[in-house]
Amino acid sequence: MFGRIAPSYDALNHILSFGMDIVWRSRMAKAVRRLPHAPRILDLCTGTGDQAYAVLRRSPGVRITGIDAARPMLTIGRQKDREGRVVFLQASALRLPFRGGAFDACFCAFGLRNLPNLSTALKEARRVLKPGGLLIVLEFFKPTGWFERLFYEFIAPSYVPRLGSWLAGDAAAYRYLIGSVGSFLTISQFHEALENAGFVLVARKRFFFGIAHGLTARCQ
Ligand SMILES: C[S@@+](CC[C@H](N)C(=O)[O-])C[C@H]1O[C@@H](n2cnc3c(N)ncnc32)[C@H](O)[C@@H]1O
Repeated sequence: MFGRIAPSYDALNHILSFGMDIVWRSRMAKAVRRLPHAPRILDLCTGTGDQAYAVLRRSPGVRITGIDAARPMLTIGRQKDREGRVVFLQASALRLPFRGGAFDACFCAFGLRNLPNLSTALKEARRVLKPGGLLIVLEFFKPTGWFERLFYEFIAPSYVPRLGSWLAGDAAAYRYLIGSVGSFLTISQFHEALENAGFVLVARKRFFFGIAHGLTARCQ
C-alpha cells in the first residue's frame, strides 16, 4: 500500500496536516541535542525520509540511516538529496540488519502503528541502541480526549479519504491510515509497551490538542 501512495505521500502529509507535520518533525528532531557528538541515528519506517532530513537540517553532523519495507518510498527519499547524506536501506523494522548497540538514537515517525508486531519492533529498536540510547517516536494514538475523538471519529474520516482519492487516486489507503489510529494503542498503553520493552520515558509532547504525540524514551 505504501508503495502505491509513495509519489504523492509527502504532498498529502503536508496538505492533510495543514503543514503541521513539518513543525512536529522539527520539534522531535531537537532530541538530538541530548546525544553525543556526531551520533549514529536510525530512522525506522523512514518512508520518504522526511524525519531523517528534519534531523539533518537541525544537526548536520549526524550520521543517519533510514530503513523501510517499501522500495518506492525509499526511492523518493534518495531523490531528495544528491549528496546522499541519508543512507536508505530496504529492511523490516521487525528484523533489523544491524549489530546490537550500533546506534545512539532511533527515530520513528508515524511508523509504529503500521507494524504487525509492536513489541517485536520495540525490542529490535532496543537491541540496536547503545545503553542509554534514545527512542524518539512521533505518532497518532488511539484518541481518548473529546477533541481527539471528534477529530479522528468524525472530522478526519470526512475529508482524509476524499483528499486521498483526489490527490493520490487511493481513498482506501487513506481510509486505512485514519482507521489505524483508532485501532492503535492509547498513549498510556503505549507508555506501558515502552516500559515492557526496557525503555524509560524522558519527555512527552502533545501536538495540536493531542492530535499527535511525541515521546522520547531512554534505553535502561
Ligand atoms: C505512515 S508511513 C511513515 C513514513 C515516515 N516515517 C514519515 O514520517 O512520513 C509508514 C511507513 O512504514 C513502513 N513500514 C510498514 N511496515 C514496515 C516494516 N515491517 N518494516 C519497515 N517499514 C515498514 C511503510 O512502508 C511506510 O513507509
